[in-house]
Amino acid sequence: MNMPITVALSKGRILKDTLPLLAHAGIILKDDPFTSRKLIFETSRDDIHVIVIRAADVPTFVENGAADLGVAGKDVLMEYGGNGLYEPLDLKIARCRLMTAGREGWTGQGTRLRIATKYVETARRYFAARGIQVEIVKLYGSMELAPLVGLADGIVDLVDTGNTLKANGLVPMETIAEISSRLIVNKASMKMKHEKVKQLIGLLEEAVANQETGG
Ligand code: ATP
Ligand code: PRP
Repeated sequence: MNMPITVALSKGRILKDTLPLLAHAGIILKDDPFTSRKLIFETSRDDIHVIVIRAADVPTFVENGAADLGVAGKDVLMEYGGNGLYEPLDLKIARCRLMTAGREGWTGQGTRLRIATKYVETARRYFAARGIQVEIVKLYGSMELAPLVGLADGIVDLVDTGNTLKANGLVPMETIAEISSRLIVNKASMKMKHEKVKQLIGLLEEAVANQETGG
């Protein structure tokens, strides 16, 4: 039976970095996802479709079977939690670190610290494991602004070059996790569409190896 496969990607850097891996696996989108308003894309393989959604929504679509596979940052997966997904492959793209950061001289110590982040659960777990009591201020972006305007003492956010922190007079403190994007798979799809899913994982594995050797 020719059961179609749906792959969930998110706009932005994950899409930009995943398209070359898909192309290496022989999968080319028929429309340009950066300019099109479409949400479902046909590809050069008529049994594979790509949907483009918000980064934080990818695990939800995949866990619920609305997509068979997806690409999500480890940061998003840590925050999503649970064990309803397989995570068979590190795609080694969109690499960065999830870190604590604050103003110069901030020690990360104190009582009832206010921490601004969109990674509410991850931050809570991180500070709880260290016995530090924090109040989390949930933001959806521009976390770096929070310590500058008195909204928080520190932040938990992604750091790559460190330029955003530096431009805002903040310093990185501790690394919570090394981040890269992972291929995730719906558990039922792994069983019901095993051959196709396995084949796709294999092709992407080769694409990642090729990318690593600069091929
Ligand atoms: P949305 O646009 O839906 O709010 P987002 O802003 O998190 O989502 P992106 O900025 O494209 O979307 O980030 C997608 C993923 O890329 C993140 O979940 C993270 O894994 C990774 N990422 C984010 N920022 C960086 C960065 N500066 N360098 C490398 N990887 C990053
Ligand atoms: C991400 C992240 C940091 C920045 C870190 O933001 O939230 O602000 O990148 O990268 P750097 O260390 O190289 O400066 P992004 O560029 O994705 O903007 P966004 O917050 O609008 O998603």
